Amino acid sequence: MDVAMTLELPKWFDLHTHFRQGPAMPAYIQAHLDMGCAGALAMPNTKPPVSRVSGENREDSWTIESYAADLREAGADAFEQLIVPLYLTRETTPEMIVEGAESGLLRAAKYYPPHGTTNAEHGAPMADFLGSDVFRAMEENGIVLCIHGEQHGLGGADYLASNRNAESLFYRDLMPRLLEQHPKLKIVCEHITTKEAAYFVKHASNQVGATITPQHLLYTIGDLIQGLKYHLYCLPIVKFDDDRDALREVAIETGQTKYFAGTDSAPHTVKATDCGCAAGCFTGGCAPQLYAMGFEESGVDLASSAGLSTFERFLSLNGPAFYGFEPSAERFQLEKEISETPILNTQAGPVTPLPLGMNLPLTWRLA
Ligand code: DOR
Ligand code: ZN
Repeated sequence: MDVAMTLELPKWFDLHTHFRQGPAMPAYIQAHLDMGCAGALAMPNTKPPVSRVSGENREDSWTIESYAADLREAGADAFEQLIVPLYLTRETTPEMIVEGAESGLLRAAKYYPPHGTTNAEHGAPMADFLGSDVFRAMEENGIVLCIHGEQHGLGGADYLASNRNAESLFYRDLMPRLLEQHPKLKIVCEHITTKEAAYFVKHASNQVGATITPQHLLYTIGDLIQGLKYHLYCLPIVKFDDDRDALREVAIETGQTKYFAGTDSAPHTVKATDCGCAAGCFTGGCAPQLYAMGFEESGVDLASSAGLSTFERFLSLNGPAFYGFEPSAERFQLEKEISETPILNTQAGPVTPLPLGMNLPLTWRLA
């Protein structure tokens, strides 16, 4: 009898995910626990946003303290790490940053380009934060800046053109200014999708890291357009082959310490609407399998010890090192076997995982 090839890895950390709010939260968190995930950075783009640090929720704003408590109650207490970043708005103050850092509740803060994605309408333009006391306070208190790096407010032709797009413009125009004005700031360039972002991070100091999603390692915009596979629609949108090649190149480089897992798993119970599509790919239950497939498609032999070690860095080690916590001492296994990820039925409705939406058989399964 053939024995399937098995990979054993330290449990991994998803350093960018969405657990939402309300009755579906336990299902989303359980799907993460089920895939060997030891901890998560849970995004603050709830309704209302998590835009204050401590105290009671208000109608216009939630707090990290109460949202983290909700997440724990919904199952996240089983994680080794739970980070909720502060949603940066026009109302964010340097005092919030200092007090949050001192209390230990605040470890990261999230920049959303205004109206750039789901529930991003509370964001303020990056230009307003450059040189601000809020960013200075983050710099001085070691608070990580998580960036959704897209230039906001662009019209269609500039948003995605053949030689530039909202992300490449952001990395060309705004990121150099940010690093120049805040040289000590620790920055995660989240869900990067372009060659410009991949190489920007590569050539920046070690205070700058990046997350890469499974979908951006696996797919290009052609995969989305052919058959209009809207389950692949997320923001920033998947780009072109040279962009994907650059992401693959930097992710699989031997010994790299800057790039790590952050799925941007973003469940939507309603994806396609009458006049559009909600942005977000749901990869709960299947992210390590998809990352393994992405690494293999990038040319990594996961059966070799060098290949496995590169994968382990990306999935399980680099993220904790960047955020300054210990990697997990627990382990999980992936087996080389065809598997499927079913629809996730939640109390808010069914959610289609990305592989099902793409009709993609997984070539790995959780052991
Ligand atoms: O595709 C996305 N979905 N990108 C984001 O930045 C937000 C996310 C969501 O919350 O649905
Ligand atoms: Zn996200």
